[in-house]
Amino acid sequence: MTADRVTFIHADALAWQPPRKTYDLIVTHFFLDCFRPEQLQHLIPTIASSAPPAGHWLVADFQEAPAGWQKIRSQLILGLMYWFFRTVTRLPARRLTCPDPLLRQAGFQLQGEQVFEWGLLRSTCWKQVPSSRTPSPAA
Ligand SMILES: C[S@@+](CC[C@H](N)C(=O)[O-])C[C@H]1O[C@@H](n2cnc3c(N)ncnc32)[C@H](O)[C@@H]1O
Repeated sequence: MTADRVTFIHADALAWQPPRKTYDLIVTHFFLDCFRPEQLQHLIPTIASSAPPAGHWLVADFQEAPAGWQKIRSQLILGLMYWFFRTVTRLPARRLTCPDPLLRQAGFQLQGEQVFEWGLLRSTCWKQVPSSRTPSPAA
């Protein structure tokens, strides 16, 4: 990859329309956690439309740990973080929204995941799969 093949786009992601079926790999690290549920309902399908069939999407983000003292720890950290970023940067989100259902609705299937920091951080790899609702040419 040479530098002249890299394009930087400075835009509001909520208003930007990416080119269709163009990007083999989408990476959203600590980005989807900035948005409210209704914003993600628009944003995730919009970004998904830029992936060709079999395109991949890597997501790294915070999550609430499922149980035990790890859950309480993550709730405290996330509560403090959202309060801080809402106050200082006017972040629209008030809390974390799990993007998994919207990624699945957009045609992505979970390929693998890793969890770090006592359940606070989660990294996932998704792959665009052909929709079963789309009839095949032979049908
Ligand atoms: C927590 S930072 C993560 C940055 C980087 N992905 C990383 O892992 O270091 C979240 C980024 O999302 C950007 N962001 C938030 N809302 C946005 C929007 N509506 N459009 C474009 N960028 C946005 C912020 O400007 C910030 O750079």
